[in-house]
Amino acid sequence: MADYKIAPSILSADFARLGEEVDNVLAAGADIVHFDVMDNHYVPNLTIGPMVCKALRQYGIEAPIDVHLMVKPVDRMIGDFIEAGATYITFHPEASEHIDRSLQMIRDGGCKAGLVFNPATPLHYLDHVMDRLDMILLMSVNPGFGGQKFIPSTLDKLRRVRERIDASGFDIRLEVDGGVGIDNIAEIAAAGADTFVAGSAIFNTDDYRSAIDAMRAELAK
Ligand code: DX5
Ligand code: ZN
Repeated sequence: MADYKIAPSILSADFARLGEEVDNVLAAGADIVHFDVMDNHYVPNLTIGPMVCKALRQYGIEAPIDVHLMVKPVDRMIGDFIEAGATYITFHPEASEHIDRSLQMIRDGGCKAGLVFNPATPLHYLDHVMDRLDMILLMSVNPGFGGQKFIPSTLDKLRRVRERIDASGFDIRLEVDGGVGIDNIAEIAAAGADTFVAGSAIFNTDDYRSAIDAMRAELAK
């Protein structure tokens, strides 16, 4: 079985009790903390920035933090999130003037680097940077909000990216974000994903462990 990772998106957590929420979801079996950064410019919503990432580290969170930058421009935030203790930093290629440089900044800062593709963003952005990637994130909704419905054409895109990763020989995680839940995680995994962001499907329940266990049971089928 592939090395599957579950990455709850804290966008759907209770921000007034964020440290406790992250502790609880990790205790419930989550592998990675997915951290959505929105700037009311690249996407029509405004969330949290590097200070909150740093605060989670200071609070004692040791799990990998997967920072999904939905911001434009991206480079300044890369530096700030390296300082703030990010593990992964991913960004949308169309939001960076110099994709190669942004990727290089992330790795130079000791973090893992990734590119994010919106549902209609073409995959040609991968052409010259496969050796610089630790993660490819396919959005299965348009970014900006939690709780949206999974866009089915993502499955075909996942299959195409899985082929490219396997052909490249590089160790690159394939993450999917948006509308992932117990009912569709198995078919998303079958299409090639190994890392699953889920916000509302976990945080909008009153038992995080049951939600995560149910996802793992689907993945084990
Ligand atoms: C959307 C964010 C997602 C979002 C997923 O722009 O990138 O991470 O929180 O939420 P759900 O799982 O509810 O679709
Ligand atoms: Zn996200």
